[in-house]
Parts: sequence; structure tokens; C-alpha cells
Amino acid sequence: MNRIFLIGYMGSGKSTIGKLLAEKLGYSFIDMDTHIEEKHFKTVSQIFAEKGETEFRLLEQQCLHEVAEFENVVISTGGGAPCFFDNMHYMNTHGLTIYLKFTAAELAKRLEASQANKRPLLANLKGRELQQFIAHGLSKRELFYKQASHSFSGDVGETVVGIYKLISNQ
Ligand code: S3P
Repeated sequence: MNRIFLIGYMGSGKSTIGKLLAEKLGYSFIDMDTHIEEKHFKTVSQIFAEKGETEFRLLEQQCLHEVAEFENVVISTGGGAPCFFDNMHYMNTHGLTIYLKFTAAELAKRLEASQANKRPLLANLKGRELQQFIAHGLSKRELFYKQASHSFSGDVGETVVGIYKLISNQ
């Protein structure tokens, strides 16, 4: 399969792993959020603030259909992308889906340190509140994430090597 979709909650390392994996495979790398921002000349936060989440999800689906035209590519999806419309089914029929799986506590620790202004859904959330928000979101989103063909939970290096081996053996 020459098209790989990395899926998972915010903070699961999709972009970091995606870039390294693409380099190792000699594939291109596409980050869906970056693709949306460059196409619409607005940050994801601006789109949420000006047009709302419903409009963002439509732009995100459109972006998914565009990037799924590429071959030999690793695509890092937005954390919510698999959970709207038929996006998860679409990805499963257009490439290999990989879920980067972490607990709410692990994600909260990573996200606490990241820039909140880049993630409108997490703006103003910290500590216990942040962890509770993630736990609640994850419990709903896992229904979709679990439809991925494979899942990985290790550190960045282990995950890149694991996915690389998986693809090389196909
Ligand atoms: C979102 C995740 C973000 C971005 C947007 C919404 C989500 O991407 O698409 O802020 O609903 O989980 P990352 O997962 O790359 O942070």
C-alpha cells in the first residue's frame, strides 16, 4: 500500500512520526491541517473562530479527498478527521490506516506542554480539566480510531521502525 494515513488524538505524534516515516520510506509527507491552512490562508484556529467547527469539518473532508489522490505518501490527519462523515471508511478504502494509540493521561501530559493556541478545542484547558476532556473525547473517538488496520503505542523510534517493517513485508 503506497498511501498511509496516520490517525489518533491530538498530541499522539502523527506529524513527528509521519515526517520520519516518509523520509525512511522515500515517500512525500502531507499534514492535513497544514494543507488546509495553506489552501485557505488561515490557521485552523482562525477557521474555527470565524466559520465554526461544522465548516472546518467540511474543509477537512474536502482536504482528505484531495490528499488521497497522492501516491507514495504519508498523510498525518487531524485528530477529529476519522470521526466525521464517512472519513474513516474512506481512508480504509484508499490506503493503510495506522492508529497511534495513547491513554488520556499520556496525551494530557504531552498536550499540557504544547501550544494551546494551535488547538482551538483545547484552548484554556489545563491539568485535571484537560485530562477529563481528553478522556471523554477519546472514549467517543476510539470507536472510529479502532477501525484502523493497525495500531502502535510505542515511542517515536519504535513506531517508525514498526510501521516501516509492516509496509516492507506487504
Ligand atoms: C482537532 C485536531 C487538530 C486540528 C483541529 C481539530 C481535533 O489536529 O485538526 O484543531 O478535533 O482533534 P491535530 O490532531 O494535528 O492536533
